[in-house]
This record gives sequence, C-alpha cells and structure tokens, in this order.
Amino acid sequence: MSTPPFDVLNADAVPRTEAIEAFADAVRHGLTQPQRELPSCYLYDEVGSALYEAITLLPEYGLSRADERLLFRHTDSILRLLPDRLIVAELGSGSARKTRWLLQAFINRAAPLIYIPIDLSGSALKNCRKELFGLGGLRLVDLERSYLEGLQDVAAHRPPDHTLLVLFLGSTLGNFERSTAEVFLSEIRRNLQPGDALLMGTDLEKPKADLLLAYDDPLGVTAAFNRNLLVRVNRELNGDFVLSHFYHDVRYDAAQRRIEMHLRSDRRQTVRIEDVELTCDFQTDETIWTESCHKFNLDELRAMASRSGFYSAAQWIDNDWPFVESLWFAD
Ligand code: AVI
Repeated sequence: MSTPPFDVLNADAVPRTEAIEAFADAVRHGLTQPQRELPSCYLYDEVGSALYEAITLLPEYGLSRADERLLFRHTDSILRLLPDRLIVAELGSGSARKTRWLLQAFINRAAPLIYIPIDLSGSALKNCRKELFGLGGLRLVDLERSYLEGLQDVAAHRPPDHTLLVLFLGSTLGNFERSTAEVFLSEIRRNLQPGDALLMGTDLEKPKADLLLAYDDPLGVTAAFNRNLLVRVNRELNGDFVLSHFYHDVRYDAAQRRIEMHLRSDRRQTVRIEDVELTCDFQTDETIWTESCHKFNLDELRAMASRSGFYSAAQWIDNDWPFVESLWFAD
C-alpha cells in the first residue's frame, strides 16, 4: 500500500527543546513589558488542559455546552451545505468531545474521513486521540504545530478532489486581539481554495454579571487554571513564583467587549526565573495579564467574513447561552 500523503506531516513536529525555547522567549518578553503578560496559549499543559476540561463542565461556564448543542442540533443543516468529499482540519481541537458528533455524521455520509487536529498543546492532542479512539472510518493525523503552520502543511498535502473544511470551534477566536483576529482569519483564507469552508463557533456578548461568574467561578477552577501558568513557569523554566502570593483577577472591559484574566501580586515581591536569567520586582497589586476573551455580535462576524475573503452562508444561534456557529465559504 502506498504511504498516504498526510502521514509525512508529523515527521517534523516541533522538537521539545524548540518548544521550551519558544516558551522561554515568550516569558522573557512578556514579563519585561510595562503591563506584564504571558500568552494564553501556554495555559494548556497537561494540568491546564485537564482544568480547562473541568471548566467546560461548570454550570457558570455555558460556552462549550452551547457550542456542543448547536453542532448537535444543526448537524443536518451543516451537512446539507457541505459537499460529500471533505477533509477536515481542526484548529485547537481540545478534547474533540464536541467535534465527535460532526465527524460521525461526515463518516456516515462518506467514509473514510481524514481528520487533522492541529494544536500547539501535545496534551490537548493526546486527549483528542483518546476521545476519538475507535471511531470507525476516521483517519486521524494530528499536528503539534501552531494553527497556521499546521494549516499550511495541510494545504500543501491535500488530495486534489476534496473540499477542505476548517473547524475553529469553542470561541478560540475570542482569545486573539480583535485586530489580530481579523488578520488571522485572512491568513486562514490564504491557505484555502475558493469553495473551501470554515465552521467557527464564537461566544456572543452577554450581561457582564454572567461573564464575570463564568470566568471567576465559585469553585475556583478557573483560578487554578490561571495560576497553573505560574506552576508551569516554575517547573519548565526554573522559576520561584510563590503561588499563594498571586491571585486570580478577572475584569470586564466594556469598551473592548472582553473579559481579561490577570494574576495579581498581593504584595511587593521579587521573583527569579533562572533559565531566562530574569528577576522581576512586583509591586503590590501589579498584575500579569494572562488571557483576553473577546465577545462578538452577529453583524460584526458577517462583516469580518467579507473583510477576510469569505462569505457567510449561515449562522446558527443558541439562545440559552448566546453563542453562534457560523459557516463561511472562501470566495
Ligand atoms: C479556550 N477559550 C475559548 C476559553 C475562553 O472562554 O476564552 C478559555 C478560558 N479561559 C478561562 N475560561 C475559559
């Protein structure tokens, strides 16, 4: 049997030392900015991925359930708008729990289905493989890369007579700065051919009180998810953050329509991160900005589609937890 083209993609997965170096650079850069910051993509080590899975089960955090509900309820309508011969690439698969429905429906229509989850987090990909293990008719090739690098590889190796469907679920778009989000969507488009599709789940604007509760849950799971980033710096870069001296701080910026997650220093303190040769002096109440979660509206998303080279073919909306699934086609 000849080697299928996608199996060559994993040959050059990011080596461990390179990944650590990228993390070290991000920490060195982020912690020396006037507003200190750490990129949210580093929240997802093994513990972080597990904590995020726990967040998706919290009654206060309706986002993932809304995403899953929409995919479940509208599978048939989604399928009707897409051709039979598909290959599916997912940016940021997480555990792929909510993708399972959709993949099963695609397989029922035309097997085998090539599915390529792309994620920087090896732990997320491991969970994805576990979740989809045993799904007959699926050929899974995971790529431990940045979303765009992975998508570029997929575009370069795609079989000629298939439509590429990109899944970008769970409102990951909201974790980009708004201006970057649009550049990112245009970059996705650059890797697609006319007629290819993007199915994207995005969280919609909702009352501030609901958002604050969703990102600062009474059980403290999101706080643990946030502080785990310091655990990761300590473990992987030989840092000496004292966890109990930083607390989870969540704000809603109404002008930017986003939740911001920070870690706030509860005292004046000095932190040393040996492997990046960095000493940080924190003032009381100084923060490290760890994540932004932007919220959208329907018109804005349609406008973003056309500005980034797509047309918006359909929007499915969840009213219990305002959230939208959008299907865009490359122009
Ligand atoms: C992954 N991402 C869409 C989540 C969000 O809601 O922005 C990450 C998250 N951060 C705290 N809770 C969940």
